[in-house]
Amino acid sequence: VGDLTAADLEGKRVLVRADLNVPLDDNQNITDDTRIRAAIPTIKYLLSNGAKVILTSHLGRPKGVTPKFSLAPLVPRLSELLGIEVKKAEDVIGPEVEKLVADLANGAVLLLENVRFYKEEEKNDPEFAKKLASLADLFVNDAFGTAHRAHASTEGVTKFLKPSVAGFLLQKELDYLDGAVSNPKRPFAAIVGGSKVSSKIGVIESLLEKCDILLLGGGMIFTFYKAQGLSVGSSLVEEDKLELATSLLAKAKAKGVSLLLPSDVIIADKFAPDANSQTVPASAIPDGWMGLDIGPDSVKTFNDALDTTQTIIWNGPMGVFEFDKFAVGTESIAKKLAELSKKGVTTIIGGGDSVAAVEKVGVADVMSHISTGGGASLELLEGKELPGVVALDEGVMTRMC
Ligand code: 3PG
Repeated sequence: VGDLTAADLEGKRVLVRADLNVPLDDNQNITDDTRIRAAIPTIKYLLSNGAKVILTSHLGRPKGVTPKFSLAPLVPRLSELLGIEVKKAEDVIGPEVEKLVADLANGAVLLLENVRFYKEEEKNDPEFAKKLASLADLFVNDAFGTAHRAHASTEGVTKFLKPSVAGFLLQKELDYLDGAVSNPKRPFAAIVGGSKVSSKIGVIESLLEKCDILLLGGGMIFTFYKAQGLSVGSSLVEEDKLELATSLLAKAKAKGVSLLLPSDVIIADKFAPDANSQTVPASAIPDGWMGLDIGPDSVKTFNDALDTTQTIIWNGPMGVFEFDKFAVGTESIAKKLAELSKKGVTTIIGGGDSVAAVEKVGVADVMSHISTGGGASLELLEGKELPGVVALDEGVMTRMC
């Protein structure tokens, strides 16, 4: 079975790989529980079908056993959300864990310790994967945020544990970030922002094959402006990507994609929240000033373009939205997507900073999908195969939304 709902779960030991890599403050308090909440539907489904859940995740990037990366601080929130007391193992594999698993009742959850406490995890060591697999009868991968890593608990384990199927979160991420993006309801617009074009080349190239409209914002636009011969003042420019920017513009034209660059920008006299600012046409950035947001005319043009669409994917902010003064462009896009989502347009927020922006504006709940992955959503949008998905049984596939 590639489908979790087709699996016989009563009394079965199910190893669930989730991405519970949540941020913790200095006092080990969870500062954003989104990823824990996102993991709950699959776990609840398993529990209500009589399974014994063995939950595994990484947290951070520890080098060996490091107490501050323990998964212990996650137990109270997991217990609260699941409505049962989650047990916690002190280890990931070994006799003590085996005993805890043997004692696990149907409908109970055992959280293993941080799987990256073992270096074998990231090395995708087969012996380690085999030991992990031996704890269970069935593997469910719901860790979309880690699906781009070929690690023992995401990829290696599937070689020793069948069936290996996708959890509901992983499937939903694939349905939207792959399914809806590859077979979109048209017109289909992609909004790509962020500071550097170099980190979004793959995404832009891949989306150019699929979208009808491409809106570019964020720091990367200055590389495009400079490539077109405009003065950009002291704005961020990747000099070694000027040719690439030119070729992306040409490619968009050749493909008939309507690529829109902002026509005006908000510029600042320094990179600071209290900088002096003014709005100027993109062609009139004075020396000594840097662009930190898209301007109001651009917001209007972008909104008008978005009004014509049926599917929108957004990855990357339009400006330095951490500074209130330069957050208007990003927040306007977030509000526009919320408005269109309510009208039935498929709106997909593809991970990272755009998720933070949508949350800041308080419109996260109305979007069709908000990805829980950073690197994983980028790789998927680039059209790459994710090792954690490829390793699952056939039948894990994307559907059109
Ligand atoms: C993430 O936060 O993007 C995932 O949990 C993956 O973490 P990693 O980049 O440390 O593998």
